[in-house]
Amino acid sequence: MNITVAGTGYVGLVTGVCLAEVGHQVTCVDQVKEKIVLLNLGISPIYEPELDTLIEKNASAGKLTFTTDHEQAYAHSDVIFIGVGTPENEDGSANLNYVFQVAKQIAESVTHDCLIVIKSTVPIGTNDRVETYIKNHLKHKVTVEVASNPEFLAQGSAIKDTLHASRIVIGVESEQAKEILTAIYEPFQQPILTMNRRSAEMVKYASNDFLALKISFINDIANLCEAVGANIEDVTSGMSYDERIGKKFLNPGIGYGGSCFPKDTKALHWLAEEEGYILRTVKAAIEVNEKQKFKLISKARNEFSSFNGLKVAVLGLTFKPGTDDLREAPSIPNVRLLLNEGARVHVYDPVGEENFKKHFSTEVVYEKTAEQALEEADLCFIFTEWEEIKAIDLSFFNKMKVPFVFDGRNCFSLEEVRKAKINYFSIGRPEIRMMEVGGRGGDGFLVT
Ligand code: UDX
Repeated sequence: MNITVAGTGYVGLVTGVCLAEVGHQVTCVDQVKEKIVLLNLGISPIYEPELDTLIEKNASAGKLTFTTDHEQAYAHSDVIFIGVGTPENEDGSANLNYVFQVAKQIAESVTHDCLIVIKSTVPIGTNDRVETYIKNHLKHKVTVEVASNPEFLAQGSAIKDTLHASRIVIGVESEQAKEILTAIYEPFQQPILTMNRRSAEMVKYASNDFLALKISFINDIANLCEAVGANIEDVTSGMSYDERIGKKFLNPGIGYGGSCFPKDTKALHWLAEEEGYILRTVKAAIEVNEKQKFKLISKARNEFSSFNGLKVAVLGLTFKPGTDDLREAPSIPNVRLLLNEGARVHVYDPVGEENFKKHFSTEVVYEKTAEQALEEADLCFIFTEWEEIKAIDLSFFNKMKVPFVFDGRNCFSLEEVRKAKINYFSIGRPEIRMMEVGGRGGDGFLVT
């Protein structure tokens, strides 16, 4: 079977590489020349563990090729996976321009019967629309069918998540499509769930929105813990022993970011409204998340009357560790706000600097180490829980004028912080206030 994958972003590229890795013959197509040039050199255009190695391995084995020539690629395919982006429109709905652009190219290029598989996250009913569109625009007399096969990978563990997925969801309307996809996924040896296309499309949104809801719920509870004097770590630990609740996705913080949760919550909410239904739980998750992004800033405002002229150290820029992706990263609106209020912002991130420069070039100072960013800083914000940041020797914070640390990802244990004698504000846990700023009441150490 000749497989083509349209799109070499996270979903498309990882799908193509993993299909080749289990033995299929795969061609990856992208309209962006620069990406294809890099891929043909064996270099991944995205930062993702293991990806470079698998590209190199499967390309040299002749199982994986990259091209911008979509016409050639689609003409000879038995199965075409669509893994292009579905970004957010201004009104929150999903933008399907890339999906339909590929659908058009497929309709114009296929020369024999083929199965088109939509991996991109698309609103319920899109598979039906794409199938109708392609059938109405076919240049040659061939039979095409569209199947849904949503992707559940997370950035930073994309290869592992794909090769060892929790499940493979297949949305089909015919026995033949089911047989083809089951054969393709047989080497993965994972549970395959077959359903109709609309249910498969819904599984993806419901899964992402449920996880987003879990995060917003725990952030809500964390905020309440602060108000009532409870500690969210003890609370989540107590909750997680109930297997129905579980341990995962109960980490409080400054909200979820990334390319999926913010977009998919809004898209499903928008879609429900179109159907005349209000998804109240998802709406609440979105609202909590919007507010949670600025949680650290509001804590800092209680300590500093103004940020004007202050040196602010920002540790961690990406929306989560293990990726250089900054899409919907809380660091962006927070740094913008700090700059607008006259702060001098010094940032450090192990891999996110290049992408951050697309948002802020000379307005911020890029430091090579966390230690340099902290030098003589008035306050420090932690936005991403990189292992490197969690491993920081807490005595580093004494390089600040007076150590005021606002940790949005609860990187350090309160016990260690107490020993380090720093002022420390995290999420859902008691404040540690070891010393007060000279001239603002208090001197010396005040242990809470
Ligand atoms: C997510 C889903 O996990 C994945 O299944 C889907 O296919 C795509 O969307 P991803 O966006 O890569 O993957 O990252 P994920 O690890 O889920 O984290 C998303 C955001 O939630 C991050 O900003 C992270 O910091 C935040 N998060 C996650 C929390 O704030 N608390 C948690 O407990 C977990």
